[in-house]
Amino acid sequence: MEPLIDSYGRRIKNMRISITDKCNFRCTYCMPAEGLPWLKKAEILSYEEIERVVRVAVDMGIEQVRLTGGEPLVRRDVPELVHQLRQIEGLQSLSLTTNGVLLKQQARALAQAGLTRINVSLDSLLREKFTQLTRRDQLESVLIGLAELEQYPEIHPIKINAVAMRGFTEEEVLDFARLARRKAYVIRWIEFMPLDADQAWRKEDILTGQEIKELIEAEYGPLVPITTGDPSETARRYTFADGIGEVGFINPVSEPFCASCDRIRLTADGQLRTCLFATEETDLRSVLRSSSDNELLAQAIREAVSHKELKHYIGDKRFKRASRSMSRIGG
Ligand code: GTP
Ligand code: 5AD
Ligand code: SF4
Repeated sequence: MEPLIDSYGRRIKNMRISITDKCNFRCTYCMPAEGLPWLKKAEILSYEEIERVVRVAVDMGIEQVRLTGGEPLVRRDVPELVHQLRQIEGLQSLSLTTNGVLLKQQARALAQAGLTRINVSLDSLLREKFTQLTRRDQLESVLIGLAELEQYPEIHPIKINAVAMRGFTEEEVLDFARLARRKAYVIRWIEFMPLDADQAWRKEDILTGQEIKELIEAEYGPLVPITTGDPSETARRYTFADGIGEVGFINPVSEPFCASCDRIRLTADGQLRTCLFATEETDLRSVLRSSSDNELLAQAIREAVSHKELKHYIGDKRFKRASRSMSRIGG
């Protein structure tokens, strides 16, 4: 099939799939304390439906799939889905973004099912702050989950994502940097974006990647850029001058990377989003459930991609909030 290219010439190679809107955390930047009205089971795509979409998408040039949530591991039998998707010829990378709490129980099955990359969200290494942010006293479980992951060298690298917020993140930057030097973890800071359900985001809350980089360099000297030649990578990557450890900065606000975006997103209820900040979606679920013709599915995906947004307008008068909050998009 013809490759997926949008109207600005960007080739789409990456599909992020949210497999549940539920989560066992309530991070303040993502979900209200009381949670959200969850989707009903019948509204959520089955694993068979997800597999069908991925097969068609891979035929159209999708090379990478990332499973997200809510928290993906609260859905039953995720290793089975991983196993099913791994059979798809042409799919080059299958990864998972998780809060890590359930890795103690599930890392082994995920590795056995063929998962090779996992990103763990972890915003604080201090129990009180972690509990305040996630509204769950579960730091210990996440650290145990990470230790469990280390038992499976086939899963690498282990990436840790920390959302960077002014007044919250600074005091721990060096502790995280030391962790990246001590363990085989890649630590990445993400600039806080206006995707929180509480709508509490303020421009002043952003702590830029550049500011964090300066804090690290004041301690360790100039960081050394790692260039991969992949323009669609979200993170600017660095190693330390002595070559031990890797850190990265995901700077969607201060240095937007929309011009090289190769991503589309599928929500748990089967809506295709062509931007994290999309205000409109394409209903793939009704196509999936009304016809067995994969050509129709391909057409719907192609049509959606032809309208992919040019960029986000964070910090600009033209900015419109996304039509869902982060937990329902999947990051
Ligand atoms: P790797 O392939 O491991 O580099 O993963 P990734 O960075 O694509 O995935 P991950 O789930 O770790 O994403 C990290 C964060 O980057 C997401 O949670 C978002 O906050 C941000 N991000 C990822 N894709 C986009 C995007 O298309 N636009 C914007 N604005 N932010 C994004
Ligand atoms: N801004 C930036 N990143 C966010 N994430 C969740 N909400 C936000 C936000 N408002 C990140 C999580 C996780 C990923 C799925 O999305 O920390 O790493
Ligand atoms: Fe859950 Fe992730 Fe949202 Fe936190 S950021 S509430 S872990 S979906």
